[in-house]
Amino acid sequence: MTEHQHPSGLTSKEIEDLRQRATEAAENAYAPYSRFRVGAAILVCAGDSGESRVVTGCNVENASFRLTSCAEQSAIATAVGIYGPSLRIRAVAVANLNGAASMPCGACRQTILEFGTAETWIFYPAEQGLVAEATLGELLPAAFRFAEG
Ligand code: THU
Repeated sequence: MTEHQHPSGLTSKEIEDLRQRATEAAENAYAPYSRFRVGAAILVCAGDSGESRVVTGCNVENASFRLTSCAEQSAIATAVGIYGPSLRIRAVAVANLNGAASMPCGACRQTILEFGTAETWIFYPAEQGLVAEATLGELLPAAFRFAEG
């Protein structure tokens, strides 16, 4: 039986695994101020070999609130630390332990784009425990890109 293919090219099992890893990562969240515990799992093409790897992160808050790192940003910083600056992000799953709908914030969308494309897929919690999905191009149209001169 051929498995139904998601437009991302990922199998439903790969997407489910990514979401599961995001949920597990949320267990490590440091969120004493908001109590909103978030995890992110990013599927990257790593380095020269282009192997697929999953890297996770959680939100890390700070008493000076604006210094908080979102889960997505933590995962990306960790991934670059492990695999280096040539990694590319294919997909991102976000989860929280609060049973709430939540989308990646604007800053995270811009951070994902740094290592992704308009075709990077984002899976995030929707109302009533459902999963929503969108491409980064849909979530961040007309994104800023640095171009010299
Ligand atoms: N947060 C994330 O880590 N990722 C998201 O996608 C949404 C928001 C965090 C930031 C802060 O620690 C808490 O959730 C409440 O905004």
